[in-house]
Amino acid sequence: DWVMTDYAEEFIQSVRLQVGPEGHVIGAVSGGVDSTVAAVLMNRAIGSRFHAILVDNGCLRKDEAVKVLKRLREDCGINLRCNDASGRFLEKLKGVTEPEKKRKIIGGMFIDIFQEEANKIIEEEGKCDFLLQGTLYPDVIESISYKGPSATIKTHHNVGGLPASMKLKLIEPLRELFKDEVRELGMALGIDEPSVWRHPFPGPGLAIRVLGEVTEERVSILQEADDILIQELWSAGVYRDIAQAFVVLLPVKSVGVMGDGRTYENVASVRCVTTTDFMTAEFYRMPYDLMERISNRIINEVRGINRVAYDISSKPPATVEWE
Ligand code: XMP
Repeated sequence: DWVMTDYAEEFIQSVRLQVGPEGHVIGAVSGGVDSTVAAVLMNRAIGSRFHAILVDNGCLRKDEAVKVLKRLREDCGINLRCNDASGRFLEKLKGVTEPEKKRKIIGGMFIDIFQEEANKIIEEEGKCDFLLQGTLYPDVIESISYKGPSATIKTHHNVGGLPASMKLKLIEPLRELFKDEVRELGMALGIDEPSVWRHPFPGPGLAIRVLGEVTEERVSILQEADDILIQELWSAGVYRDIAQAFVVLLPVKSVGVMGDGRTYENVASVRCVTTTDFMTAEFYRMPYDLMERISNRIINEVRGINRVAYDISSKPPATVEWE
């Protein structure tokens, strides 16, 4: 794709000039398509003077930190370090059930940890002047003009969340692109297909999908169920027909039967939506046999879940996430 190859080449040349031969750049990566494409571009431009940071907040998908490290560090050669802050996040989330409080705690903690990582780079390299962000064109528009539901109903901490005191100059290679163009660019850069087609994943992660109090045990139950859902969607060949798919662990127990014993375990809900812009969304019309396979696997393989429901709400009036 020559348009995207040119776009990449142009960015690489101009960012080299901007950063200079000695400059250092820091950027958070999540493993999502935007931060991955931005990081790969930056790595091609200035190599190890780009410092990628993965913050493990303890609420990532199953084995996510390990997988992202492998993909970005080993396969793409990016200078990436992971700050495993799971313990710190989970400690702060203890006893917290209010959705907005969870978001604020996670957003605040993320900034603290990112700042600590930036300080380490400044200590090691003498300076770090630039911040890479995977901002897309719709984010730019939304932050200028959009005051609708997702701007006011839920706190999104991934846009403009870093303190002004950091005084970093922003580098935003994806600022002019829509999501489908970022995917095209990702493919032109040779990034693997599962990374390019990944559904978006919210910054607060599984913390807003474990309804009520977040504990290590509940996160790990959800990770297992979520992993089964994603596997089954890929193997049924429908992953790319869906905009976002996840499991929600409800703070509700139900009675079930297993062998000749009674069970009293958690209820989980599967949420799969189609949408173009996430401002409105419809539930995905999942084939019944696929529903059955997912439900059977979750109930049989995940200790702690004995009932699965399918969320058939549209946005609006529901939102995509439950919290
Ligand atoms: P809602 O629930 O508002 O979600 O309909 C719309 C889209 O936004 C994502 N989302 C978030 N993304 N930080 C993020 O990075 C957040 O705090 C956050 N909250 C919701 C959600 O996953 C969906 O794609």
